[in-house]
Amino acid sequence: MSEIILKHITKEYENGFLAVKDVNLEIKDNEFVILVGPSGCGKSTTLRMIAGLEDISEGDLLIDGERMNDVAPQHRDIAMVFQNYALYPHMSVYQNIAYSLKIKKVPKSEIDKRVREVAQSLGLEGLLDRRPGQLSGGQKQRVAMGRAIIRHPKAFLMDEPLSNLDAKLRGQMRVEIADLYQRLNTTFIYVTHDQTEAMTLGTKIVVMKDGEIQQIDSPANLFNYPANRFVAGFIGTPTMNFFDASCEETGGQVVLQTDTGTIRMNDKKAAALKEGGWIGKKVAAGIRPEHVISAKDGASKVFEGEVGVFELLGSNAIVYLQTASGRMVMNTTDLREYTHGERVALGVMEDKVHIFDPETERTVTN
Ligand SMILES: Nc1ncnc2c1ncn2[C@@H]1O[C@H](COP(=O)(O)OP(=O)(O)OP(=O)(O)O)[C@@H](O)[C@H]1O
Ligand SMILES: [Mg+2]
Repeated sequence: MSEIILKHITKEYENGFLAVKDVNLEIKDNEFVILVGPSGCGKSTTLRMIAGLEDISEGDLLIDGERMNDVAPQHRDIAMVFQNYALYPHMSVYQNIAYSLKIKKVPKSEIDKRVREVAQSLGLEGLLDRRPGQLSGGQKQRVAMGRAIIRHPKAFLMDEPLSNLDAKLRGQMRVEIADLYQRLNTTFIYVTHDQTEAMTLGTKIVVMKDGEIQQIDSPANLFNYPANRFVAGFIGTPTMNFFDASCEETGGQVVLQTDTGTIRMNDKKAAALKEGGWIGKKVAAGIRPEHVISAKDGASKVFEGEVGVFELLGSNAIVYLQTASGRMVMNTTDLREYTHGERVALGVMEDKVHIFDPETERTVTN
């Protein structure tokens, strides 16, 4: 059992910089929590405060109900895996993995049994005699994880563990970490700025910006129901298209009017817009590239685009367009050739439009 709770956690560095502001987060047993956000948003600082590597300026950190603010890292019973692996270069793989147990004076036979178990579960059996300098990046990463696993900690903390690996190996290791999580049944707290890692590994994702939490949700909810414009733009690739529109009601139908077309609002969106007093006002709207479609007839045309770059990716294509409402990206499975400068009429899947308050950037309706 391990439950980790952050209550009003704040970090002010010595120079007065507020890196983490009033963070509240509940992590239940066996959750895979991802901290994600742009560089400098406070992910590592948050993780390091949980690990005990950084002092907490304000707030409480509870692990299984016990306040941990002043407990030394080695007594928190959590293991951290770093981006740069932090292996002992002069020790063999075997000694690296065994180290924490040796320090704890666990009997040799017990250490041997556990090292071999861990090595087997990570595919390191053949490498136990090597030094870290004789390993590939992915192998080093596995040794670093082995060192964490062997302690049977309450939680694993990982700070960008895959960022030193090339794209293919990252993909493989991502699957291995997912597999490890299934087998170990332990809490994981994982920092990344790679949203593919976030969306595929996490059961709960915490999106941060400027030291503050923007939204805590499941991957699917973050994608479908972003709480504000920042989250909407951060989650999803290519990123969501944003455009200005005015909200109007004509003949009982609520619509968004762009410079070149009209988007009809379904009952749910219309109700939210009416309730918020948005009729007659300007709103910020968003549509994901996969929800931009080519308009088959004049009535469904919302934007008029001029094709810039066209990328064929196999089963889909990304088309970059310029419109009167700004740059627009379409992710389509209609694989006809687009040519540079070609004019195309674009529609949108009307139910998929997101609407934000242009001032506060909070979501009005998804
Ligand atoms: N020792 C320090 N003193 C002052 N400011 C610091 C210190 N360490 C980090 N910061 C600042 O705190 C903010 C958060 O840093 P942090 O390392 O937590 O960001 P991050 O989200 O992990 O970013 P990245 O994705 O680049 O690793 C940054 O603006 C950083 O410059
Ligand atoms: Mg970091």
